[in-house]
Amino acid sequence: MTKNPKKRGKFITLEGMDGAGKSTHIPNIIAALKARGLEVVSTREPGGTRLGEQLRALLLHDAMHAETETLLMFAARREHIANLIEPALKRGAYVLSDRFTDATYAYQCGAKGVPSHKIKQLEKWVQGKLQPDLTLLFDVPVEISIQRLTVAREPDKFEREDAKFFEKLRQAYLMRAKEDPARFRIIDANQALDKVKVIVKNIISTI
Ligand code: TMP
Repeated sequence: MTKNPKKRGKFITLEGMDGAGKSTHIPNIIAALKARGLEVVSTREPGGTRLGEQLRALLLHDAMHAETETLLMFAARREHIANLIEPALKRGAYVLSDRFTDATYAYQCGAKGVPSHKIKQLEKWVQGKLQPDLTLLFDVPVEISIQRLTVAREPDKFEREDAKFFEKLRQAYLMRAKEDPARFRIIDANQALDKVKVIVKNIISTI
């Protein structure tokens, strides 16, 4: 038996509709974890590896069948888990991922109608037992999200969807959170940024 085996790290994911403001909090989360002396690996989906970033470019800009999109998301995820997430967790690092599989349930299943049993099969195949230890869901009303997106950068394929799509997305995310309350923290992101920062900091201090 190995002496002093390294304690496995933690896997934290950030989720929410486009425009919910989750990515704004990444630098603060990294700083809070590093201040505790932890190694932090910050990554994103789709992406996080060389191949994953290539798939991201296709996924965000090319029109495709919703099931093709689902399969490519999981192909990128397989690569991400094998090459980045698992090795980091094994050596004791905290992995912070801007989106993970909840996004597939929200976007491809909730908003685009891919049956959840198909996503479950892929999830089991690609992830095995791997699940995030903590998921922060940044929630805002649809009109706020759309408002924020119109003043942001050039929109990608998903960001150009209509209010109906965004409403389905929001409900799908809230349903995921309701189904797994031990893992999710829902953050009301429709309030002053400083308040949201404090909420995020408090949550991160618990893991
Ligand atoms: P981002 O702009 O927040 O980095 O996310 C990229 C886009 O990809 C975002 O609009 C959500 C979408 N997406 C899916 O549709 N399914 C997924 O499984 C993931 C990870 C992202």
